[in-house]
Amino acid sequence: MSAPVAPMIRNAIPQDAAACAAIYAPFVTDTCVSFELEAPDTEEMARRIARYGTSHVWLVAERAGQVLGYAYGSPHRDRAAYASSCDVGIYVDPAAARQGVGRALYGALLPMLAAQGRHAAFAGIALPNAASIALHEGMGFAPLGIYREVGWKLGAWHDVGWWQRLL
Ligand SMILES: CC(C)(COP(=O)(O)OP(=O)(O)OC[C@H]1O[C@@H](n2cnc3c(N)ncnc32)[C@H](O)[C@@H]1OP(=O)(O)O)[C@@H](O)C(=O)NCCC(=O)NCCS
Repeated sequence: MSAPVAPMIRNAIPQDAAACAAIYAPFVTDTCVSFELEAPDTEEMARRIARYGTSHVWLVAERAGQVLGYAYGSPHRDRAAYASSCDVGIYVDPAAARQGVGRALYGALLPMLAAQGRHAAFAGIALPNAASIALHEGMGFAPLGIYREVGWKLGAWHDVGWWQRLL
């Protein structure tokens, strides 16, 4: 079988909101990967794309006109001295998993955040999540520690591990 064609990585536009919302929704409703309890609709996703696409970067991966995944930067914390740091998030359609989409998204996102002057990127990963840990460590993130039982979802406590990369 031939390798899948590399995705095109580009800045998200408002019209990507429906595809991003559709990719994200099952992770909200069916898993603890996201700590949100209700999946954002298209309008809310469009607001997030506008907000973080302006303050940071919001990228989508596209192949043959179809959005396969997205990644974005967002504030780490609000207080002013944290502005040089950011959080990152990434979601890939399971139908396109393990095809290099996540690596391509981060391969574009992290240099763009660095070019904005961001110094450190943080990823909070609800545990367990072997795919996300391997992706982040493969992109140069190092583990920092674990917030134990920091979230309650789907009838259980969940830990969140934090990973960091200097940009
Ligand atoms: C984590 C995620 C973004 C990875 O995206 P992806 O497009 O499948 O990743 P890639 O194909 O670019 O893989 C890059 C590397 O990540 C690691 N990886 C990806 N999926 C993996 C899996 N299922 N198991 C183990 N390692 C995995 C591998 O090291 C892989 O490199 P390799 O294929 O050369 O071995 C994707 O699985 C996803 O969206 N998961 C659900 C949402 C999520 O967990 N987001 C992160 C929240 S913190």
